[in-house]
Order: sequence, then structure tokens, then C-alpha cells
Amino acid sequence: MISHEKLQELIEDVVLTDPAPENEPMRQYYYIKKARQYVEAERVRLGRTPTCCVVTFGCQMNARDSEKLWGVLQEAGYAPCQSEEADFLIYNTCTVRDNANQRLYGRLGYANSMKKKNPHKRVALCGCMMQEPTALEKIKKSYGFVDLIFGTHNLYRFPELLCRMFENRRTVIDIWEDTDRIVEDLPIERKYPFKSGINIMFGCNNFCSYCIVPYVRGRERSRRPEEILAEIRQLVQEGVVEIMLLGQNVNSYGKNLDPPVTFAQLLEQAEQIPGLERIRFMTSHPKDLSDELIEVMAKSRKICRHLHLPLQSGSTRILSLMNRRYTKEQYLALVEKIRARIPDISLTTDIIVGFPGETAADVEDTIDVIRKAKFDNAFTFLYSRRAGTPAAAMENQVPAREAQKNFDRVLEVVQETARKQVARMETGRAKALVEEVNGTDPTLLTGRLSNNILVHFPGDPSLIGRIVEVELTENRGFYFLGHQVVEP
Ligand code: SAH
Ligand code: SF4
Ligand code: F3S
Repeated sequence: MISHEKLQELIEDVVLTDPAPENEPMRQYYYIKKARQYVEAERVRLGRTPTCCVVTFGCQMNARDSEKLWGVLQEAGYAPCQSEEADFLIYNTCTVRDNANQRLYGRLGYANSMKKKNPHKRVALCGCMMQEPTALEKIKKSYGFVDLIFGTHNLYRFPELLCRMFENRRTVIDIWEDTDRIVEDLPIERKYPFKSGINIMFGCNNFCSYCIVPYVRGRERSRRPEEILAEIRQLVQEGVVEIMLLGQNVNSYGKNLDPPVTFAQLLEQAEQIPGLERIRFMTSHPKDLSDELIEVMAKSRKICRHLHLPLQSGSTRILSLMNRRYTKEQYLALVEKIRARIPDISLTTDIIVGFPGETAADVEDTIDVIRKAKFDNAFTFLYSRRAGTPAAAMENQVPAREAQKNFDRVLEVVQETARKQVARMETGRAKALVEEVNGTDPTLLTGRLSNNILVHFPGDPSLIGRIVEVELTENRGFYFLGHQVVEP
């Protein structure tokens, strides 16, 4: 991963009177320098530094992509701001469920009214929803005020697209079908100084029948382990103590690399990096979770005691229609194996209710798995029909009222199980990464335990970003109260 200083040098060396280089990332450094001129002209016109704001929808992958957008915008000379009234506003979109799309349309209405008040304002859209042809058509037709639209596969070309936006009066649109490339070494502006997400792979090959992600994120591609490990080392040097390795299915990491590498091997190498204190990862697909991974987790001192293992449904019949490639029994056996080897692990999951053809008996199976697996927490979603996916074409879509009824039942069991799980957790000493000042009581700090549970305790904000020992004194159901242990 490139250092900030090296990046500055390379951008300095760019000669704008030369044609743009063909090779990446040099081409994008060229356009960063060019964008600086456009932003400077804007500054002169406005009499102040223009501001930018990136608004993120969706998952951790999108959050990491947004850090790349922030990085480019700041390199180009924009001042970051948290308000959507910024001079340059970009929405990084999600389309996993229809309500994500609806939310975006609402925000676009708001953006339009802001643009009418500020004629210098520019609005851009990117991310997963732009890769969806019907959504893109609707935006082109009904939201003509948008200045720039691009997708997930060409995000690395953001500097170049930014320049095209400055050079064109009409909407600039650039969407690619797919890509097999991974471009490294673009600027990144992290949200937290002490923790960071890291992409280890992009795309997904699983094609779960309800899911749009493989269509909008393309085929699975793994980053080379050397690149990932170098990025971690650099982050640690910059003060990061906790990393989260990101991929749609981290358990299939490295299968197509030459030579192949397993996810467990990558974790073992990350563990060796001095100064790195904690490792998390998202997301695991149950069908690919290996014994090797369980072993590595059990022995590790750095991998956190938390595993997110999406179940989706507890009914073998529905799981097969979902193309998940495991059965109810296989899932439960896997959970048992993990809990036996790593007793203090916290297990969380994702559940979909209302998949086509789901009956009351199928929902009972899901509830049965929730009780038996004793999830520490679960995200429960109402099935959303995504155009172009196999499930959208299935005939027996579940009526909304019935799905909602089942959803409420599942949610009740999820909450009851989660409450019981936290109640079992013992007070005592534990390590917490201090993340922020408590939102409601500013005398308290909020820290995250290895198992992802929060603890609130009195302390000085200077501790933010440090891992401290706390005495957990009170179990409050979904979080702990405590105090810092200071050795004499
Ligand atoms: N790659 C991850 C999940 C990515 S999407 C994995 O396989 O675990 C995050 C969650 O959104 C999924 O786990 C699923 O529960 C939910 N989801 C995906 N498509 C959905 C749809 N069409 N309707 C409702 N929920 C959906
Ligand atoms: Fe979607 Fe399945 Fe891929 Fe997850 S593994 S992103 S649910 S297709
Ligand atoms: Fe949404 Fe794209 Fe993530 S569809 S959940 S932002 S991969």
C-alpha cells in the first residue's frame, strides 16, 4: 500500500501537458492533479474552499469504498464536511433490498431542492444500485439534475470521472458490466484512526437465488496476500490496532490465486504482524467454513471471539431453493463444532423471512435453529424481490401480510434468545477497544469487547483508540457497565 508521502511525490511529478498515461494507477494520479485545477478554479469563484460529502448506504464493503472516495476528493482539494449541503455531494448506494432503493429516491428529491438553492452544487451517484439497469433508467429519466453516475467496477477511475464531470454540462454516465481488475494504491481517507476495514476480495460467485450482489458486484476476485499484508502493516504504522477483513464470502478467499492461499493461512500471516492487536472478518458462508479456520481461530490471540455466520433459513427445503448448499442439520452440526472448540465465541447471523413458497412449517424450522444455535444476535430481513434473480421469477411469492406475521414471530424468538445469551455472560475482567465518548453520557467512554459487545465506563477521551483492561461490573442485557482496571 502506498504511503501518503509517496503518493504526493507521484502526483507532483505528473506533467499535465503530457497525455494521460495508460497504466493504472498512474493514470488516476494524473487526473487527481488535473482535478486539483478544477477545484482550485471553484475555490476562486466561490471565494472559499469548496466542500464535499460522501453519504454511504449498505454494507461494510460500501463503507470501505466510500473511504476511497473521501481520499480522492480530499486529494483533489475539497474540504470534507458532514452535511449534505456540501458543494459536491455523492451518494454511494446499495440495492440489496428494495427499501434501500426507495430511501435513495427520497434523498434525491432532497438533493434536487438543495441544488436549486446552490447553483454551484454538484451531485454524483455510485455503488451497487447504479449497476442495476431498471434503477439506472429511472434515475436517468426522473433525476436529470445528477452530474455524475458510475458503478462498482470503475470506482478506481473516480479521479478521471471527476474531471469529466467538470468538463461536461450534461450528466456523465459510465457503468461497466464487469471487471477482472483490482487497482491498488489509490488514496484512502479512513473514518477511524484506530480501526479499519480491508478488502481481501471483491464480488461473489455464489448466486444465492434471492441475492442481487453477484450481479452488481461481479465475479469473485481475491487480492494477493502480499498486498493485503503490506496494507495491514502500513495501517498499523499509522496507529490502527483493529482490522476487519472484508469480502462477501471470506471463506472462499484465495481459491483462484496462483498459488492458491486459504483464508486460514491469510489469518495466520496477519496474526504475525507486530502491533496489530485485533482481527475481525465479514462475512462467512457456512458451506465453505473449514476445520482449518476453526483451528486457527481457536489458537489465535488476535482473532476476535465473534463469528457472523448467515443462516438465511432453517428449512432444508427453502435452503435448497435459495441455493445455499447446506442443510439445517449441516448448519447445526457446524455451530456445535465451533462452540465446542471456541466456547467463548459470540455467534450472529442473518435471516430472511418470506422467501417464495415459505410455509408456517418452514418458519418453525428457522425458529428451531435460532433456539438450538443460540444466536447472540441476528439481523432479520423481510424477503425483497430483486429483478433478475431466480427467486424473483418463482411463482409462489408469499403475500406481504403473511410474511410480516412470520417476521414478527421470528424477531420475537431472536430477541428472546439474544437476551438469554447476554444474560449468561459473566462479569469480570476483559479487554475493550475504546471507540468513542458515550453519546448520552459524556463522562463515559464506549469500548468494544472481543465478542463485539459494548461496555460503557468512566474515563478520559484520550483513551480513544487504545485497548484497555476493564472490570465488567453490571450486565445490562445488551451491554455492560464497568470501570477501567489501572494496575498500581
Ligand atoms: N455475502 C453475505 C451477505 C450479503 S447481503 C453473505 O452471504 O452472508 C447481507 C444480507 O442481506 C444477507 O445475508 C441476506 O440475509 C440479506 N439479503 C440479501 N438479499 C436479500 C433479499 N433479496 N431480500 C431480503 N434480504 C436479503
Ligand atoms: Fe449474496 Fe449469497 Fe453472495 Fe452473500 S453469498 S453476497 S447472500 S449471493
Ligand atoms: Fe448493498 Fe452492495 Fe453491500 S447491494 S449490501 S452495498 S454489496
